[in-house]
Amino acid sequence: MATNRTFTMLKPDAVEKGHIGAILEKISASGFRIVAMKLTQMTTKDAQAFYAIHSERPFFADLVEYMTRGPIVAAVLEKDNAVEDFRTLIGATNPADAAEGTIRKMFAESISENAVHGSDSDENAAIESAFHFSGREMF
Ligand code: CMP
Repeated sequence: MATNRTFTMLKPDAVEKGHIGAILEKISASGFRIVAMKLTQMTTKDAQAFYAIHSERPFFADLVEYMTRGPIVAAVLEKDNAVEDFRTLIGATNPADAAEGTIRKMFAESISENAVHGSDSDENAAIESAFHFSGREMF
């Protein structure tokens, strides 16, 4: 069932570069409502669990190190067709392939440090939201 919600993280590279405000502005201007949001830092255990699906990939250790090296902004967003529309807004995983005007085209520099996460399905949006937020923290 479509929930019209998706989960995002502004990743450590985006936070380090001071892009929180600009990215949130673009998200809001694109019609997403912020349902939950916090500045937080993932532990190694958190990142290993969150990215368990990638545990056999050659970039897994680097991914865990990157995602734990500084704070992230975790958020739940609401909009009709949220998962698909947010993935369109952020652009391709590799910013070199991302369309003009997408968040990754504007704010990311490489496939490994690509500024922002977006859930790939309604099911994962619910799982990832619950990973970072309790029911009482979602509005
Ligand atoms: P995301 O799609 O949000 O979640 C998985 C992350 O793994 C991805 O963003 C990148 O940060 C990283 N990633 C994906 N593919 C590669 C790759 N080929 N090399 C390095 N990192 C990758």
